[in-house]
Amino acid sequence: MEIDAKRMTLGFVGTGTITEAVVTGLGKTRFRDTPIVVSPRSESVAARLAEANQNVSIALGNQDVLDRSDLVFVAVRPQIAEEVVRALRFRPSHHVISFVAAMPLDRLLAWIDQPLRLSQAIPLPFVADLQGATAIHPPDEVSNAVFSALGTAVQVESKREFDLLAVVSSMMGAYFGILDATSTWLESQGLPRAAGDAYLRQLFSGLAHAARSKPAASFDELVGEHSTKGGLNEQVLEDFRSFGGMAALQQALGRVLARIGPVEGKPC
Ligand SMILES: NC(=O)c1ccc[n+]([C@@H]2O[C@H](COP(=O)([O-])OP(=O)(O)OC[C@H]3O[C@@H](n4cnc5c(N)ncnc54)[C@H](OP(=O)(O)O)[C@@H]3O)[C@@H](O)[C@H]2O)c1
Repeated sequence: MEIDAKRMTLGFVGTGTITEAVVTGLGKTRFRDTPIVVSPRSESVAARLAEANQNVSIALGNQDVLDRSDLVFVAVRPQIAEEVVRALRFRPSHHVISFVAAMPLDRLLAWIDQPLRLSQAIPLPFVADLQGATAIHPPDEVSNAVFSALGTAVQVESKREFDLLAVVSSMMGAYFGILDATSTWLESQGLPRAAGDAYLRQLFSGLAHAARSKPAASFDELVGEHSTKGGLNEQVLEDFRSFGGMAALQQALGRVLARIGPVEGKPC
């Protein structure tokens, strides 16, 4: 029988940046009336969420979150995850989704010490605006229902595939770093910062829109559509490649993969 996530009570252990983004996003979806219980830390975030959403209540502590919910999201930092999870008493009927970065499921299950349904997900801050790209592993209909409501959910079968999506989710800083470097260059050439920033925001927003509005086009095809043969766009791409830009990017991704998901015998 299909499980309806909307009829579950959702509980969050760890009420920080990502919980705030998820709960804020859910308030804009069909989950807006679904009961949500958040843990009391951070106090300010929990208070803000309860104030803004009539369906959100603040638990007395982490165990109270579990006692009052069916679907539990573990959203504390990796450094304290073991201490927090080991201290909790889960029920076998709990459905658990972990946000804890680079934390293998078997380790979490050992700390939970109950034979329950566990999966992991990587919600990104823009789930708050229903623009999420959320990786889920292993495929989980409840997690998929929640994160599809918050944008696009991508379910993958293997840990390796999940790790690879986690790797590219670490490109957010580099993305804005490229915008910042471009804006700095424009300013150094005499364009006021405000004009450059306004232009770049819209340019990259238009490019993101182009990619989303043509899901059947490969990125390589989009390169072609946005580059005249022998033109300026083609030149920038070729220069970027020949000056080492692509190699630097792929090397950086390989280093993240080596950090979060090395696999014996597989080159990173
Ligand atoms: N931010 C992202 O984009 C993102 C994306 C995907 C996954 N994640 C993962 O999601 C998890 C949370 O990340 P985050 O960015 O939301 O971190 P965060 O903003 O630091 O939130 C963690 C929260 O946990 C609270 N906390 C500390 N000790 C606690 C305890 N013993 N019991 C319950 N709560 C406690 C903290 O409260 P105090 O402030 O009171 O200490 C804080 O509000 C991490 O494992 C991260 O790897 C984050």
